[in-house]
Amino acid sequence: MDPNRLKGKNILITGAARGMGATNAEHFAEQGANVCLGDIDPDEAQKVADRINERGNGKAIAVKMDVTKREDNAAAVAATVDAFGSINVGLFNAGLNKPRFFMDIDEDNWDLIMDVNTKAMWLGMQETARQMIAQGPQERPYKIINVGSIASRKPLIDVTVYCTSKYGCLALTHCGAVALAEHNITVNGYAPGVVVTPLWEQLDKDLVEIGFKERAGQAYEDITENELVIKRVSYPDDIKGTAAFLASNDSDYMTGQMLHIDGGWCIQ
Ligand SMILES: NC(=O)c1ccc[n+]([C@@H]2O[C@H](COP(=O)([O-])OP(=O)(O)OC[C@H]3O[C@@H](n4cnc5c(N)ncnc54)[C@H](O)[C@@H]3O)[C@@H](O)[C@H]2O)c1
Repeated sequence: MDPNRLKGKNILITGAARGMGATNAEHFAEQGANVCLGDIDPDEAQKVADRINERGNGKAIAVKMDVTKREDNAAAVAATVDAFGSINVGLFNAGLNKPRFFMDIDEDNWDLIMDVNTKAMWLGMQETARQMIAQGPQERPYKIINVGSIASRKPLIDVTVYCTSKYGCLALTHCGAVALAEHNITVNGYAPGVVVTPLWEQLDKDLVEIGFKERAGQAYEDITENELVIKRVSYPDDIKGTAAFLASNDSDYMTGQMLHIDGGWCIQ
């Protein structure tokens, strides 16, 4: 690994207290980036930041933010700039899931998922782009990275609202790429399949509770057998290389792309 690959990149990551956000933050810092870890759980985010700072190379700060609030997004961007001098990359990763069959969806389920996964992405993109535009042109593009999902392209009957929210992330990636190109901001994303994180561990339990699966672990097994081309589920370490590629100058000529890192699920 090149410890200077992301040198000079100051990166805001939402939802960075655990799961893929935390792994990406550590991986970015190992390659020289400075990272601001925004999360609704500031204590856990601070632990990740402490680990990064103890290790050396890129620096880290943690900020408490509720991504659904515009003022928290603006404050997280400002904290990144205060700590590191500017912001070059925004990774909009915070997200959640709460499965429901189509006819059982209610307004609370809809609002919860759409607010955190989609509305918050728009807010984060907008507040980050506002700061990038104010900073003025830089030689290499500014970068926005959105976390989609296999659910950005596949209708899954147990998680309609999650699919709607993640198709929305794909639309924000396409629309943002077109809208922000004149400011030298690229907008790309990546789309995992099944990644073993606290989100999926909760989902595994919830799928039993709504009656979609009979026992814990069955969802992992069924998806691996029936959906995945590569016959195993993934871990945050499987995802971090693609996230780092999108944050790096290696992806400078890409915009409007959502890269699938899903073991081939999207072609099944
Ligand atoms: N785990 C998977 O299989 C999978 C697959 C495809 C896409 N994704 C997406 O990847 C992203 C990361 O997922 P993960 O599996 O690492 O999840 P995770 O639950 O492990 O981590 C999500 C983080 O987001 C934070 N968060 C939640 N609501 C927030 C809010 N309102 N404000 C600020 N922070 C908030 C949580 O505190 C947590 O630290 C999500 O967007 C998720 O939808 C996950």
